[in-house]
Amino acid sequence: MTDKAGAYALLLKQLAELVRGETNETSVLANVAAAIHQASDRFFWTGFYMQQESGQPLRLGPFQGPPACYAIPVGRGVCGTAFAERRTLVVPDVELFPGHIACSSLSRSEIVVPVFRPGGEPVGVLDIDSRTPCAFDETDTRCLEEAMRLMAAEIYAG
Ligand code: SME
Repeated sequence: MTDKAGAYALLLKQLAELVRGETNETSVLANVAAAIHQASDRFFWTGFYMQQESGQPLRLGPFQGPPACYAIPVGRGVCGTAFAERRTLVVPDVELFPGHIACSSLSRSEIVVPVFRPGGEPVGVLDIDSRTPCAFDETDTRCLEEAMRLMAAEIYAG
């Protein structure tokens, strides 16, 4: 197991404990953003953009890092595209992503992972930005997707 995969294995255990029994969405998103953000120095901004109602833009949710944009239209930027296409996007160089929304000029690469209700409808995205180019790979994708499954199963269970 790589160091990164090992660190994620620990993080996933920690997240399982952290979300157990808590169903308040804002509270869980806040603690999950904090736990993920603390897990790696590669993460410069870690947080959620959530859709309150169908057809509405994604709105800034709980996060760690510098202040960020309030709203992202579905289909726009990395977050809006990942949400619309219902798939994880890894962007090695944000300057090469058409329509990238720059909340901070320090961000150089990012990963955006959709959050799904158990029925399969997307409800928002986890967005992690790094100041380092090419900071994210398949291990980040696999482990962060697992983290979002685990979290959503707890929040949206009922
Ligand atoms: N980079 C994102 C915008 C959100 S901030 O970077 C926190 C995007 O293009 O979707």
